[in-house]
Amino acid sequence: MKSNQSFFIKLLIIQCLTVVCFSQDFDFFYLVQQWPGSYCDSKQSCCYPTTGKPDADFGIHGLWPNYEDGSYPSNCDSSNPYDESKISDLIRSMQEEWPTLACPSGNGSKFWAHEWDKHGTCSESLLSQHQYFEAALDLKKDVDLLQILKKAGIRANGESYTLNNIKNAIKDAVGITPWIECNVDSSGNSQLYQVYLCVDTSGKNIIECPVMPRGKCGSSIEFPAF
Ligand SMILES: *[C@@H]1O[C@H](CO)[C@@H](O)[C@H](O)[C@H]1NC(C)=O
Repeated sequence: MKSNQSFFIKLLIIQCLTVVCFSQDFDFFYLVQQWPGSYCDSKQSCCYPTTGKPDADFGIHGLWPNYEDGSYPSNCDSSNPYDESKISDLIRSMQEEWPTLACPSGNGSKFWAHEWDKHGTCSESLLSQHQYFEAALDLKKDVDLLQILKKAGIRANGESYTLNNIKNAIKDAVGITPWIECNVDSSGNSQLYQVYLCVDTSGKNIIECPVMPRGKCGSSIEFPAF
């Protein structure tokens, strides 16, 4: 009787610890997609992946858990590191849709490991490693940014467009307001760098952003070729 009781007390303690220590609370995700032309054409140079030059398309940067107050959790579980054997069926798609552009040239593993270790572990209570990477890939398939912009006459040809035209083109197509991040090219022109869309905690549904990141674009934004 006595040992039985202590067993249940231990069980209770373990459950409480699990809730307090390991439930990774967050409010929503940012799905961040980057334009490779603006990554490469800025002061920092870029290096194509060892698998070759990526398509002239937006690439996934990451799927980032965030809080409604604008802050975000990071590096939430060092005991669950990136494990490529868990996502081997996704690697081909990730090479296409989530290419690394960092120097020196890499095969992607370092980039994906960074994204999982820093961001993915913070949603591990809801999405396994496989579900996390798959969720980002599926979301990108749902929202073809390049096609959406092209239909609105916004092309990656080095011309400039207004921030409002870019935002409205995406809003009209997706039904949700995006957030646009700019960087500057080597001559100091503001250019379309990353597009943020908010996603609910299931990783499946695009939602209005509870809070937008900070930062500012010029009113006229270049969309460089890649
Ligand atoms: C990339 O290279 C690393 C180190 O050589 C290797 O462990 C990993 O499996 C490679 N990943 C891919 C996707 O080829």
